[in-house]
Amino acid sequence: MSDYHPKDREFAFQAFVDAHGSRNRTDALGELRSADYGRLDRLGHVYLDYTGGGLYAESQITAHHELLSDHVMGNPHSHNPSSLAATHFVDEARAAVFEFFNADPDEYEVIFTANASGALKLVGESYPFEEGACYLLSYDNHNSVNGIREFARRGGAEVVYVPVRKPELRLDEDLIRRGLTRESSCKHRLFAYPAQSNFSGVQHPLEWIEEAHENGWDVLLDSAAFAPTNRLDLSAIKPDFVPLSFYKMFGYPTGLGALIARKEALGKLRRPWFAGGTITLASVQGEGWYHLAPGSTGFEDGTVDYLGLSAITIGLRHLSSIGIDTIHGHVTDLCDWLLTQMGSLAHSNGAPMVQIFGPETTDRRGATIAFYLLDPEGAVYDVQRIEALAGEQLISVRTGCFCNPGDGEIAHNITRDDMAECFDESTVPVTYNQCQRVIEDATGKVPNTIRASLGIASTFADVYRFMEFAASFRDRAAGDVGR
Ligand SMILES: Cc1ncc(COP(=O)(O)O)c(C=O)c1O
Repeated sequence: MSDYHPKDREFAFQAFVDAHGSRNRTDALGELRSADYGRLDRLGHVYLDYTGGGLYAESQITAHHELLSDHVMGNPHSHNPSSLAATHFVDEARAAVFEFFNADPDEYEVIFTANASGALKLVGESYPFEEGACYLLSYDNHNSVNGIREFARRGGAEVVYVPVRKPELRLDEDLIRRGLTRESSCKHRLFAYPAQSNFSGVQHPLEWIEEAHENGWDVLLDSAAFAPTNRLDLSAIKPDFVPLSFYKMFGYPTGLGALIARKEALGKLRRPWFAGGTITLASVQGEGWYHLAPGSTGFEDGTVDYLGLSAITIGLRHLSSIGIDTIHGHVTDLCDWLLTQMGSLAHSNGAPMVQIFGPETTDRRGATIAFYLLDPEGAVYDVQRIEALAGEQLISVRTGCFCNPGDGEIAHNITRDDMAECFDESTVPVTYNQCQRVIEDATGKVPNTIRASLGIASTFADVYRFMEFAASFRDRAAGDVGR
């Protein structure tokens, strides 16, 4: 029996906490929401785009502003007092990252970057992609991981994609294994996959890391979508390269991410240039006269965001004070409820109102749900129209392909030939919307998706309000809802 009662939120909430045995946790996170994220309720927002960006707690902002008000910080790495103060906070942030991810400083380096994409670019531009090297990657990578293939191609390396399969958009383990063992002739081997797809929420086995290592692969585990609500314990699993963005984890500051890299793997990278801050010494009088600084320093171009970095420590402490396992359990419960409710929502003629792309239970998945809303005849409501109508009610969902074309193409049965239309020389430049139109007109397929994602400040009231919104389309024809 479904426990969704559009007219009775209290009843549904009671059933939710009873079903999950989560009264204490739900209450604790409800208090956190009021204390630290009260602006959501004060301003009437339902935020369901945590995979796009996390939300900051008000206490983070207060703590950071107090810290900035109470210190004088200048450009780090000099010996004057203001420089030493900045260096102290940068070192503290690095130590906080090691601690949060349980990474051994003897084994890993923490390199601060502008975001996860910046971390990925560091790997892509420096990995020894040359004739005989191989880049193996899953279909469901973010474009910032897909983009590394262009460095690989330019260097003459072989690029091999492993597709995801419907309906759950998981990777075929046999194909992964075949990829990891078949390419045994590769000189340098990089295997890249997301710990959690930012499209489908699918979580892939972390055991693949060890299997890949046994076959001589370096492993890039994209953790940008995983880290905000899942424990990533680098004492238990040993990926070589871990890119992430801090704003996805705790909202503030934007513009900071990290590449956590195993020292051994980092030693393989060859930086294509040097910059202020990355060298110990350079001369203008000799070809190639520079010495790259050891460790993370050699990878942090220019001056790091030393003011922003002091907020990283505050953000990580905030997550730790709540507990990543508590956050994980809470969003998993809400996701479970949402998946069940979405799955049972139907028009009066019995036709389902929601089509989910990805797993329909919380088994091996995160709280990121990609879906269509369908009309009584099974037609897809215009995705952007749904986003706009949700927006009118201050409900933030995201639409598009979320920079994850592989999951989108498989989810919507878009073939290579369909896509080829958007890459025909005569039609460039082509935007995402234009490509959608081309494919929709030619095939009737809708290469666009809605995504709802949960995070630290999500509450039952949020998901309930979203369900009320979704249910409001009952028995409405797609043509009447419009485009
Ligand atoms: C899985 C994944 N990887 C990488 C990125 C890139 O992150 P950023 O845009 O912060 O560089 C994202 C962003 O959505 C992501 O979800």
